[in-house]
Amino acid sequence: MKLSTMKILVKKGDVTDAPVGYVRICFTDKPKGVKRFIKEKGVETLEIGIGKPAEMNVRKFIILCRAVVNVAKTNTCKKIAVQFDQNLFTNLQAVAPARLAQLMAENFEMANFEFNAFKTKPKEGWDTVEEILVFAPDVREVTAAVQKGLEIGRAINACRTLANTPGGDMTPTLLAKAARAAVKGLPVTVTTLGVKEMQKLGMGAVLGVAKGSSEAPTFTILKYQGGKGKPVVLVGKGVTFDSGGLNLKSSNSIYEMHMDMSGGAAVIHAVALAARLKLKCSVVGLIPAVENMPGNNAVRPGDVLTSLSKKTIEVLDTDAEGRLILADALTYAKRFDPAVVIDAATLTGAAMIALGLHASALITRDDTLAQELAEAGESSGDYVWRLPLWDEYADRVKGTFADLKNVPGGSTSRYGGSIDGGMFLWQFAKELDCPWAHLDIAPRMTAAPGDELAEGAAGEPVRLFFRFIEGRSKQ
Ligand code: BES
Ligand code: MN
Ligand code: ZN
Repeated sequence: MKLSTMKILVKKGDVTDAPVGYVRICFTDKPKGVKRFIKEKGVETLEIGIGKPAEMNVRKFIILCRAVVNVAKTNTCKKIAVQFDQNLFTNLQAVAPARLAQLMAENFEMANFEFNAFKTKPKEGWDTVEEILVFAPDVREVTAAVQKGLEIGRAINACRTLANTPGGDMTPTLLAKAARAAVKGLPVTVTTLGVKEMQKLGMGAVLGVAKGSSEAPTFTILKYQGGKGKPVVLVGKGVTFDSGGLNLKSSNSIYEMHMDMSGGAAVIHAVALAARLKLKCSVVGLIPAVENMPGNNAVRPGDVLTSLSKKTIEVLDTDAEGRLILADALTYAKRFDPAVVIDAATLTGAAMIALGLHASALITRDDTLAQELAEAGESSGDYVWRLPLWDEYADRVKGTFADLKNVPGGSTSRYGGSIDGGMFLWQFAKELDCPWAHLDIAPRMTAAPGDELAEGAAGEPVRLFFRFIEGRSKQ
């Protein structure tokens, strides 16, 4: 995979010290807008309005960093110079400078990303930024933080590349291969189970969903042993294309369903990142991968699958496939004796109905874990918002002719769809002897207007996972 070539250099001094050839970025307290001007010969300046300094906060800072790169891109500035001075952002003075510098680099890198893999390179090249010169008071501290931020940004962009890749070029087999490539040279072991192994284990739910496709399913296990304690187990939905199966999606909703492996892509790159940055924590990544297709051997509405847990499932809707493959993965997670299990999945359109486009849904019965994840989300920029998992909802996934059903069916089936997804997964997760949380990342599968990110995959929740693992690392 092609890595970003953007460089970030840190220097002591003031942005007015920038050499000729660097477009200087200056911030003003104007509410909005960009002004480009030339003061002296050869010294170009871009002025960006950031509003009242006292109203600055971390969320706005993240967007501002991305806006800086986007302004540079639209003005075709290859080299820019910025001032990293917390005095500019009076409200951010409480944030540790290293933390802020890391966020800055992360978001510069994220904003510089475009998915160009299938485009012909223009003669004048891509309009990406090549170099950013950052003027900071403490060069050593900021340089280290910038390097870390760059690595995080690269991992997020690598995740976006995987997720953006069309379904025909990112099958379950190719996703397993991509996982291997992502951790090449890192102390991470990779194992991929094929159909035979899954049959032997009894992963009837994964195998059931896969039956409608000519593409074989895979189940990939990544292991990074950075610490001695029990591992954090991350599970990512890897549906490489979700046609809906026999409950075929409509034209409007089938679009973008090559990104239904976004959870899996995030798990792959979160594990790789934890290893690359040598976090002192053990992490296991599980990626069940299938293509959900309506082939002539496809699972039928009404069919019953026997999951790895031995619980039987009535498949009332073949489009509720994510929860089926995750069920087997959650059961499989038990063998790692986890400290905690977190799954990430583009599970329901209903999560978007509930939350709009700016937060993933968080579902868990563990209040401490909920808070830990909410904090990791808030500080990283991958925001999450909790939905309930009360007993009152449990009857909706009880089966009529099997132990469970994958959707409630009937006239109330549309209500609270994300909670139903979580409640279904809970039937498997409750067999684990550890806290579990589910992240329905459908709202954050793609970048939203105002995110200052390229169209397509948003690369969530790589940052949240990283922050969470970092928080659990023994220093
Ligand atoms: N992958 C989809 C959910 C989705 C929709 C993700 C839009 C991102 C954007 C999932 O497999 C699905 O089809 N869910 C169904 C569930 C329903 C059948 C209970 C849905 O949301 O309609
Ligand atoms: Mn589906
Ligand atoms: Zn799906």
